[in-house]
Amino acid sequence: MSDPTSNEPSRGLPPGPKGPPLLQTWRFLRRSVGTFPGLHAKYGDTFTLRINPGPRNIVVFSRPEDIKEVFAGDPADFHAGEGNSILRPVMGKHSVLLTDDDEHMRARKLLMPAFNGASLRGYRSLVEAIAKNEVDGWRDGETLVTLDRMNALTLEVILQVVFGVTDEEQLDLMRPKVNRMVNINATMLLGWMYPKLHQVPPWRSYFKNQSDFDVLLHRQIAGRRAATDLEGREDVLSRLLRVGRGEDSDHEPLADAELRDQLVTLLLAGHETTASALSWTLHELGRQPALQADALKAADEGDDAFLEACLKEGMRLHPIIDFVARTLRRDRVVAGWTIPKGTTVTPSIVLAHSREESFADAQLYRPRRFLDEHIEPNTWIPFGGGVRRCIGAGFSLMEGTVALREILQRYRVEASQPARGRLRNITNVPGDKAPLRLSAR
Ligand code: HEM
Repeated sequence: MSDPTSNEPSRGLPPGPKGPPLLQTWRFLRRSVGTFPGLHAKYGDTFTLRINPGPRNIVVFSRPEDIKEVFAGDPADFHAGEGNSILRPVMGKHSVLLTDDDEHMRARKLLMPAFNGASLRGYRSLVEAIAKNEVDGWRDGETLVTLDRMNALTLEVILQVVFGVTDEEQLDLMRPKVNRMVNINATMLLGWMYPKLHQVPPWRSYFKNQSDFDVLLHRQIAGRRAATDLEGREDVLSRLLRVGRGEDSDHEPLADAELRDQLVTLLLAGHETTASALSWTLHELGRQPALQADALKAADEGDDAFLEACLKEGMRLHPIIDFVARTLRRDRVVAGWTIPKGTTVTPSIVLAHSREESFADAQLYRPRRFLDEHIEPNTWIPFGGGVRRCIGAGFSLMEGTVALREILQRYRVEASQPARGRLRNITNVPGDKAPLRLSAR
């Protein structure tokens, strides 16, 4: 461990497991929420893993003061795009998640206005209508497969609010393809790193599905470019197509390839993440009737703050993404460790959220901590941080709050057993899909 009393940064990397990199990679990709806590217990607050391809070193951080150094680090030195490169075969080389420096800044600047406060207020009524329509299909006494239903809801929101697709025929074609795109396991992810494997099963059919989806997407883009009502449309795709025209003529317009990559990124980054956050939150409320009664009261009184606190605590206790990554472009001292160029530094969301120093009774679901207590910076980080903080953070909280209100006002939900986490895609979801028994109110 580094010596915090010394002014001299220590040399070398923090300690970590010594097993073969392929095995470490496999465990890392399949990591259950238990993997990082196990390593934390063995090696302390900061540890190093050896991961393929390379193999390269990944240094994991968990103390807020260390995480701050990573988030506040110069983005030219701390490359997030490079750290996320495993997603390139699907999201594409222009993706805002995968680019760095000027290209990343341009993409972020173009996307951000579609997710600011005013834009979010504009989306709210459409989200309400989609949530209502979803809950209309539920029946008194049934057991809801919550994750599946939340996935259906958030997919509809992305397709309609982000892509602006409302035509039922097009939606019917797109839905199953998106579901196939997000349904990937550790084997699938491992294969993504080796382009030759993309030609053989099961990767071949995965990428065939993706290119079929791209055809549909390009058709949407072409249709929207030609639309006569483009100026009046509020969806994210239409907003992006207006870049370079009229009031927005300061920027270069986005080419089709760039649009495709940003849209697929928003789809994959915003769909199952929000669905999982909602499922975990409903699961927790389903286990605590008194808290659920408070949430219902908040819903009836239009008190969004309490419902939002329920979601925030759901994401704290069950981090949806369990870490974020930055790859160093030059040697840097981080938290007293001298870390060589090429190393990936990784704030662990799971470890940050489970620190007793940051959250008293960290293992308990207690939404009120977000209303009654001060949450220190860099302790609650479900959306990452710094110049790479999630673009859709506000969107997902708005969507989640709207959905929770609609659900709780119509049904009492009851969860039978604690749900264990499972990694799907890169998202931590309830392993049993969080079954909930519904009773009509
Ligand atoms: C509960 C829901 C969500 C969670 C937990 C989540 C989490 C995250 C995390 C951890 C990052 C990486 C941040 C970093 O590297 O510091 C991220 C980035 C991103 N998220 Fe989200 N996200 C959610 C919903 C959404 C939604 C709804 C959208 C859009 C529709 C979205 C779009 C993005 C984009 C575009 C980035 C890349 C930002 C960049 O690299 O500059 N996310 N998200």
